[in-house]
Amino acid sequence: MKIDGTPYRAIWPGEDGVSACIIDQTRLPHEFVTVDLRSVDEAATAIRDMWVRGAPLIGATAAYGMALAMQRDAGDAALAAAYDTLIATRPTAINLKWALDAARARLAPLGQAERAEAAWRFAAELCDEDVAVNHAIGANGLALIREIAAKKKPGERVNVLTHCNAGWIATVDWGTATSPIYQAHDEGIDVHVFVDETRPRNQGASLTAWELGKHGVPHTLIVDNAGGHLMQHGQVDIVITGTDRTTAQGDVCNKIGTYLKALAAKDNGIPFYVALPSSTIDWTVRDGVREIPIEERSGEEVTWIQGRRADGTLDKVLISPPDTPAANPAFDVTPARLVTGLITERGICAASAEGLAGLFPERAVA
Ligand code: MRU
Repeated sequence: MKIDGTPYRAIWPGEDGVSACIIDQTRLPHEFVTVDLRSVDEAATAIRDMWVRGAPLIGATAAYGMALAMQRDAGDAALAAAYDTLIATRPTAINLKWALDAARARLAPLGQAERAEAAWRFAAELCDEDVAVNHAIGANGLALIREIAAKKKPGERVNVLTHCNAGWIATVDWGTATSPIYQAHDEGIDVHVFVDETRPRNQGASLTAWELGKHGVPHTLIVDNAGGHLMQHGQVDIVITGTDRTTAQGDVCNKIGTYLKALAAKDNGIPFYVALPSSTIDWTVRDGVREIPIEERSGEEVTWIQGRRADGTLDKVLISPPDTPAANPAFDVTPARLVTGLITERGICAASAEGLAGLFPERAVA
């Protein structure tokens, strides 16, 4: 997507041929800073400290992390060490393991002389595939928005509510939840997005509001607690979120608070869709609520908030008594029964084993 007229991806190979470039998302929306990653340790830090985040982008960064490792040392021990370093960065998004398993499967059979070049090629291919897949998700999800738009009276807009950032900067490009929105906007549908701020790290306020604004998509930032009220008052036509891991049965793990939105949507008869590339499906997990590892992050993300001071500098402020204990589970699981449908690159299906097996018969589990 474009930033002030310039097309960007969320990760790209450096012109020097030995680095991978990212946007430091911890500085957005106030500062636009790109960073050159030059080693596997730097790639691991970028994922762990959330300079990059969002399930598909975590996977893409890990793929470049393997390339950065292989250009220094392409031996078997270095390959294993790079895998171990990167897999330990964040526990919940399954795209990390998916990308690392695929990279290792591609590189391990090769001779050491070939591995570095093959690893760079693999990372580039994975990124191109991510862009194509997210575009296809958007084309499939667009049909839902068109359907809602067709029932609107002249002058009425389509209202989408989204949570966290499942936008283009959570992927290589297009985003997952935002891809249908961008495509609807681009074809002239009057689409408007309610953006959950998404405490504690505020990915909605900092990232989704930023990227929708850069693309010119009308949007309104709301506090996380406002969604249910808006739904009760007919102000939300459809909820679309992303996901960090979806089970083969259709349970959806996503940013903390997604479950509450799904409950409110169900209570109000509002369709609740989840947009995902098939790389986010964990075909091995049976019970999403009990088996998916939920990242526990520092309580400081709850008790402190980052923002921009009036003088333009970034700062953090404490919002609780100094020693307040805080819990910070970063994700929750929305049971499949609350999900109206899954928007994938192959089409839209029911959030169920049968639905997913229908679209991905080659992966279906008995
Ligand atoms: O902790 P984050 O910012 O990595 O969490 C991101 C999300 O929960 C997104 O909604 C999810 O990864 C889908 S991104 C296309």
